[in-house]
Amino acid sequence: MIKIAPSILSADFSRLGNEITDIRSGGADYIHFDVMDGEFVPNISIGIPVLKSLRKITDMFIDVHLMITTPLRFAKAFCDAGADLVVFHVEADSYQNISDAIDVVKAQGKKVGLAVKPRTPAAVLYPFIERLDLVLVMTVEPGFGGQSFMPDQLPKIKELRHEIERRGLDCELEVDGGVDPVTAKLCKAAGANVLVAGSAVFGKADRAAQIAAIRNA
Ligand code: DX5
Ligand code: ZN
Repeated sequence: MIKIAPSILSADFSRLGNEITDIRSGGADYIHFDVMDGEFVPNISIGIPVLKSLRKITDMFIDVHLMITTPLRFAKAFCDAGADLVVFHVEADSYQNISDAIDVVKAQGKKVGLAVKPRTPAAVLYPFIERLDLVLVMTVEPGFGGQSFMPDQLPKIKELRHEIERRGLDCELEVDGGVDPVTAKLCKAAGANVLVAGSAVFGKADRAAQIAAIRNA
């Protein structure tokens, strides 16, 4: 089943509650919540207080994408603030700390995922993959919404789909960056089942139409 996860990085934060109502009624499956620390990526976005506020106004599934160094420091705090799924980057720390951060999220009863930047090979995820609920392939360099999709990431998506099937895992495969009704078709064909879209959803007035166009691409 294809799931659509609008990234609120491209939403109007002055009316965030209305934006959530819009995507919910438009058929979105997840809220994609991008956290940036100005260190792991060259930008700063939103964090724990905003997540807490959102949790109070919606029961939608919140997919938190941490683009921060040493995610182990904040893994529990994001669980406590209301994340349903916490995804962090395999590049963001040592093997041991990444492994410990996975344990912290699971101990809170939340779903956990690992993300890879465009230049990181899929195989870096394999030592962890059996413990993951989701893997995330970045199809832009993380840090900003509205960038162009990188088609050279499609083989990585295919490779991960193949590996998930080969191992018989119940692990979702998410794609993030430059996803629109055209590139969504490529992602689906490569085996992705969760499609993040920021500017393609929030950049158009009719969010329901955009969500449907991406889902049915
Ligand atoms: C980028 C973020 C993405 C971003 C996607 O670093 O992780 O989630 O918001 O935005 P679009 O869909 O506009 O590329
Ligand atoms: Zn993201």
